[in-house]
Amino acid sequence: MPGEFTTVRIDVDPDGIGWLYFARPEKRNAMSPTLNREMIEALDLLEADDAVRCVVLTGDGDAWSAGMDLKEYFREVDDAPPHVEVRARRESAEWQWRRLIHFPKPTIAMVNGWCFGGAFTPLVCCDLAIADEDATFGLSEVNWGIPPGGLVSRALAETLPSRDALWFVMTGETFDGRRASEMRLVNEAVPTSRLRERTTEVARKLAGMNTHVLRAAKVGVKKVRQMSWDTAEDYLYAKLDAATGHDPEQGKQQGLGQFLDDRTLRPGLGAYERG
Ligand code: COA
Repeated sequence: MPGEFTTVRIDVDPDGIGWLYFARPEKRNAMSPTLNREMIEALDLLEADDAVRCVVLTGDGDAWSAGMDLKEYFREVDDAPPHVEVRARRESAEWQWRRLIHFPKPTIAMVNGWCFGGAFTPLVCCDLAIADEDATFGLSEVNWGIPPGGLVSRALAETLPSRDALWFVMTGETFDGRRASEMRLVNEAVPTSRLRERTTEVARKLAGMNTHVLRAAKVGVKKVRQMSWDTAEDYLYAKLDAATGHDPEQGKQQGLGQFLDDRTLRPGLGAYERG
């Protein structure tokens, strides 16, 4: 896969998993304007590559990401002409929520270590999240004199109960992967020794499924949050018809055939065999 990057890294494995790395371990994978720009490009490459059927976002070294780069994103941009800040904010938002939340393939955040501040946005915008139980999370902004910036508070409102969100935003205290899982900020927390194995297991499962149908399924859940029941009913039926009508592998016909005719499938217990 092409891509000349200095702050991110892509590895595509034969099982269809695209591993996307924050690759600034010496800066604890802090998100600089360069990293934000490169992430947009990297996600475009992963989207276009048919060999990639699931994306895992993780970090090189002992950090997932220490949040926005305090030097390159804050201090240097504060001192630059206004259009530089406008661009830096746009590019940051572009991948951290917009590209990720609507990414057409399944995405998993594999949180391998430090996860602070701005890093909560891409964390929440990945479909699923699996953390090292000893990973350290924190909304540390108040500790250095700002309220959470960017879309961090929006991401928290999406996932955390209000009491927990306010507690951690206001105290700036850290919590570990176990607590992140209890609060449902992540799906699971596992020991360090099992993190990659467990993530690979989940990613492989998703990579082996019908990408077209998974996309419709996840977009449906995300979009209806903002809708009334009336609008959701109309939207979801339209989505269902579009998804099944345009499915290149005609999964519904295969699934129904395997259950009703061949009697080889129990859909309650596992996915249909993709032909
Ligand atoms: N922005 C810019 N640089 C950062 C950074 C960030 N968010 N987080 C870490 N770095 C840099 C440090 O400045 C240091 O650079 P240097 O080696 O050139 O001096 C390097 O990464 C290592 O950081 P260090 O603090 O020595 O590592 P540590 O392992 O002892 O501690 C953290 C790791 C994550 C606890 C600590 O770096 C930290 O608190 N970072 C800021 C986290 C934060 O508040 N993020 C919110 C941003 S919105």
